[in-house]
Amino acid sequence: MHLQAALTILAATCHLATAGPAGAEIKVDKSLRLIKTSPEDAGTWMTQDQIDELAVASSRTSFIDITDIEDEGVLSVLSTPGESPSSIAARQVRYPTSLSHTDEADRLIAGVSNANPQAWLTALTNFNNRHYRSSTGTEASNWVFNTATTLASANPSITVRRVAHSAFNQPSVIVRIPGQTSSLVIIGAHLDSTAGSATARSPGADDNGTGTVNALEALRVLASARFAPKNTLEFHFYAGEEGGLLGSADVFRQYRSQGASVLAFLNTDMSGYSPGGKVVVYQDNVDAGLTSYVTLIAQQHTGTINTSRCGYGCSDHASARSNGFPSAFVSSEPFASSNPNIHTSRDAYSTINWASVLRHSKLNVGFLVEASYL
Ligand SMILES: *[C@@H]1O[C@H](CO)[C@@H](O)[C@H](O)[C@H]1NC(C)=O
Ligand SMILES: *[C@@H]1O[C@H](CO)[C@@H](O)[C@H](O)[C@H]1NC(C)=O
Ligand SMILES: [Zn+2]
Repeated sequence: MHLQAALTILAATCHLATAGPAGAEIKVDKSLRLIKTSPEDAGTWMTQDQIDELAVASSRTSFIDITDIEDEGVLSVLSTPGESPSSIAARQVRYPTSLSHTDEADRLIAGVSNANPQAWLTALTNFNNRHYRSSTGTEASNWVFNTATTLASANPSITVRRVAHSAFNQPSVIVRIPGQTSSLVIIGAHLDSTAGSATARSPGADDNGTGTVNALEALRVLASARFAPKNTLEFHFYAGEEGGLLGSADVFRQYRSQGASVLAFLNTDMSGYSPGGKVVVYQDNVDAGLTSYVTLIAQQHTGTINTSRCGYGCSDHASARSNGFPSAFVSSEPFASSNPNIHTSRDAYSTINWASVLRHSKLNVGFLVEASYL
């Protein structure tokens, strides 16, 4: 379906170029992107302005940019309502039904605090925006790269790299703590923000600055302890999530084509708004076994949890899942009562619930320690 649409556009472009009046070159908007808003939606070609409008209008129902997704298996998962990505040979991982490394996790969790996350979120929200097509969005990505590099310097075996994206300038950032196996346990968050255009003020404190600082804090604690995992641990900071999960789609396409072995991917987004006061483990578009395992870990290290569902393409776990990798998603509030400020200039530092952010930093460390032994 996607391929067909692309060919149609190509044909139209050629037609216009040859049939236009002599001397009057017809400008074809090369930035048209194919945007899919539901499993049933075959996709609509949109301009960047239309996509920006959609991002603001759709703070509650999300969309996926499938322009560059060519793998029929991945497209099929994105077009199949329901739970099982049957067209992709998803790796079957058997997750434990009890936890066996809680003491070690607790010792590391004791080092988790809000001191650095507060300073980092101040820096992140001080960019006018972190829009994936703005220069400050690229600067924000550089800031994440530099901050992660400084944290990683506590352990010389850790590597930090950028992943460039062909469609826009903001790179994603990937940090790796090598283990004894090359199998991967990954936590992720998106580093961009939006309030519409590439110039609109968008502090993006909770969406998703908090997810970013949760991942940085887990990195700080594990790096400074020189934690030496059995499985390889990665920390992903995705660009262009607000443009339709662009950064994570590129990263997981690469991992799929390289045959990467991903044991578990945990996406954290929006951890700083929590009237309900609980970690929320999302239940749709995720791996059921991994979600049960994450639930155990969250209960162990943060107390009672709640559950919710967020619908189509609501964050980067959709990219991991559609590429056949087991994914789970946590946030700090059920979908129906989630943060009303996101995608506006009101998503400000001053609104952040730091007790909730701390719960999610603890969950990240607990998850990475437990899953490092899978
Ligand atoms: C972060 O961004 C996504 C996309 O806007 C949004 O739906 C989500 O609620 C925020 N956290 C997440 C989920 O990514
Ligand atoms: C879970 O979330 C729902 C929906 O917001 C809410 O009504 C319910 O009270 C919450 N349950 C717990 C245990 O917090
Ligand atoms: Zn968002």
